[in-house]
Amino acid sequence: MILGSCSDMGEPEVLLPQMEVETADIDFSTITVGSPQIRQIQIINSGEGQLNGELTLIQDSSVYALQPHGVYTLSGDDTLDVELTFTPSAEFTYAGQILISSDDLGNPEHVIGLTGVGTALPVPALTVSTSSINFGTILTATSSQEQITLSSTGNDTLVISSIDFDLGVYSVDVNTPIELIPGASQVLTITFQPDGAGTFSGSLTIVSNSPSTPDIVSLSGDAETPVSYAGAIQPVWNSNCTNCHGSSAGLSLSSYTNLMLGSSSGSVVISGDGANSLIVRKLKGQAGSLMPLGGSALSASTITTIETWINQGALNN
Ligand code: HEC
Repeated sequence: MILGSCSDMGEPEVLLPQMEVETADIDFSTITVGSPQIRQIQIINSGEGQLNGELTLIQDSSVYALQPHGVYTLSGDDTLDVELTFTPSAEFTYAGQILISSDDLGNPEHVIGLTGVGTALPVPALTVSTSSINFGTILTATSSQEQITLSSTGNDTLVISSIDFDLGVYSVDVNTPIELIPGASQVLTITFQPDGAGTFSGSLTIVSNSPSTPDIVSLSGDAETPVSYAGAIQPVWNSNCTNCHGSSAGLSLSSYTNLMLGSSSGSVVISGDGANSLIVRKLKGQAGSLMPLGGSALSASTITTIETWINQGALNN
């Protein structure tokens, strides 16, 4: 195109445009889905005449955007700044082209190839190895421990900001925050330390940067007051049994040590298993003659106390 300006001599001066685009193909490489990436493209008119053309974007999906686009006009020695944005919308490789046409006869079209790959949004995730822990029944003044594993199963760093219990009888051996890269895991040791007899139903709440936070693990445990051998068992023997089961031959019930020695036919106490212990079966009349021999059975509650003491481990307490 010829832009004329009249000289005094009447000779028309021909001013020519000259398009220069330095940007070659653009590779955005791998970009997180949904996060825009921006590149600058400059169209320079290094000629003196006005440059006219059009900016066209060719693509299959609308992940690339050009601003400005369409028809452009650049006066001599002017530059047009164009912004190209790539926002991948899926895990996919996106190709495209920018066509920059011009009326510079020496450079009528400049083509910029585009490529970019979308990758999944990084999301942290927490997987807890269990949703409930049952500590069973333990004795007061003792404690019990169980382990759980926290695993970072997302594709972004998991940050555990707090691990809290609603009951003071439960505690954990780690401090927060805990950072776990994808694939890493952390073992927690949970301690149940009852402050008295009873049932303790509680929960453990784990707060993290996972979208599904918080994670909750239910906790349960029972605590029993231990039956005292010296206080509740030996006195039963003393009042009902030792007149026959003294220190003479056979089963002696004169002390804890002698009780645990059993009789010539073996143990009469199976620690942890009151129901199958011979001494309990004898008291219930389930094994030959009822004890105390020739007398009436002990009260049900006394037999239960003996059974409980055996179930609790037949401690010398
Ligand atoms: C009047 C005496 C007498 C009294 C009291 C008595 N026992 Fe016995 N006990 C015996 C005799 C005799 C045997 C052995 C014969 C038998 O097993 O029936 C025996 C056997 C046992 C055995 C089985 C031992 C074995 O290894 O075979 C146990 C256990 C036992 N007694 C517990 C008790 C307890 C506990 C009491 C108290 C609540 C008690 N006995 C009171 C006389 C007595």
